[in-house]
Amino acid sequence: MSKVDVVLGTFYGDEGKGKIIDYLATKADIAVRCSGGNNAGHTIKVDGIKYAFHLIPSGILNEGTLAIIGNGVVIDPKVLIQEMNDLKANGKSYDNLRISEKAHIILPYHVEMDKLLEENRGSNKIGTTARGIGPAYCDKFERCGIRAEDLISDNFEKLLTININNKNKIFELYGHETINLEKTLKEYKEYAEFLRPYITDTITLLHNALDNNKKILCEGAQASLLDIDFGSYPFVTSSNPTIGGVCTGTGVGARDIGEVYGVLKAYSSRVGAGPYVTEQDNEIGDTIRELGHEYGTTTKRPRRCGWLDLVALKYTARLNGLTGLAINHVDTIGKLDKIKLCVAYNHNGETTTNFTTNTEFLNNSTAVYEEFEGNFGDISNCKTFEDLPEKAKIYLKRIEEFTGVPVKFIGTGAGREDMIIV
Ligand code: GDP
Ligand code: IMO
Ligand code: MG
Repeated sequence: MSKVDVVLGTFYGDEGKGKIIDYLATKADIAVRCSGGNNAGHTIKVDGIKYAFHLIPSGILNEGTLAIIGNGVVIDPKVLIQEMNDLKANGKSYDNLRISEKAHIILPYHVEMDKLLEENRGSNKIGTTARGIGPAYCDKFERCGIRAEDLISDNFEKLLTININNKNKIFELYGHETINLEKTLKEYKEYAEFLRPYITDTITLLHNALDNNKKILCEGAQASLLDIDFGSYPFVTSSNPTIGGVCTGTGVGARDIGEVYGVLKAYSSRVGAGPYVTEQDNEIGDTIRELGHEYGTTTKRPRRCGWLDLVALKYTARLNGLTGLAINHVDTIGKLDKIKLCVAYNHNGETTTNFTTNTEFLNNSTAVYEEFEGNFGDISNCKTFEDLPEKAKIYLKRIEEFTGVPVKFIGTGAGREDMIIV
């Protein structure tokens, strides 16, 4: 490992970041979540048990690793405490959890506002996860957000009172039920006491760790094409799940970053609305969804499925300075007879390999495909790249060649051990 290694999603989320993080955490002293909140859902299968992490860093399953929720994350305390209790129920400890005092707290008015705004968008819905993520980040930037350090301070009641009074004026305007101050205060004071021992200055903690030559793994959530700046705006999330968000969401400096692993599936998927050039809204997409069990970890929504888009991948590789690719679900794609890879877009009669997230451009582009042989057979016993069938090697090599980024991890199944490290 370098001083700091990073794992990021390269498409629209759910690429299998959790599994890669779980492996890399075994090499790290610290695993830190950088951005997003419980809109994320990272699945890890260990010894037949399925863990779904929304807020707790996926690195926590490795007992020696300190798991930090960084300052860039927005935290719903109720969800976090539930996750901590679930861990304990599975015989795992959360003693190693630390929460940045600067992380912002999701309050009930954020969740209500998220739902209300979606309702009001009518046919232009974003398809948010309705977890209050966007409104919580709005408050952060508006500078009225409540941080973890406020939650456990004597100032909390005052801050909450001001916010609830202000938010209730907006809810009244919409004719929406208002938020009860006393109930919220009581509930959140209980959360504060539960979480207090874990809330700390994680920025200094990370800086000291770097000074002491500790290894840090930065865990991305969401993904590059959902980025508020670089994604398919407005069909995006409200944070920067790209490389910049790693620095602003943790306090780690760019110079300390070594490997930047971009995670993708051997096909693609998206939940929520927005453009998706290689979507297969047909029998192929349905087949991929069933073979890959493509239903949301967080909202259980069926994921939209399609072919892998190398035009988009090349863009996100450049955007994040990817040094390696982690390609999951090679077992899944290998069950199809024929596989397609998008190698260019056709836009208004012109062929291009330049990607932009302009909605008009994406909605009016069609994919140019190359076709590959599928039917890889059972690859569950493949432990090296050489072990893979020739057809799988040809497919993976083409991805590597197009993007110029080496393949470092190959997913051959959902389990922790189902991975080839190249
Ligand atoms: P994340 O949000 O990026 O961590 O991804 P999710 O956990 O939301 O979705 C990825 C899904 O794919 C999970 O159900 C994983 O268990 C599963 N998965 C990850 N890698 C592989 C793989 O190589 N093969 C198969 N069959 N499943 C995988
Ligand atoms: P992980 O970390 C997939 C999507 C939502 C919606 C859009 C905005 O598991 O890969 P939000 O609630 O963030 O305001 O919703 O972003 N979205 C995700 N899609 N995986 C995720 O996280 C996602 N997090 C947000 O579906 O389209
Ligand atoms: Mg997910």
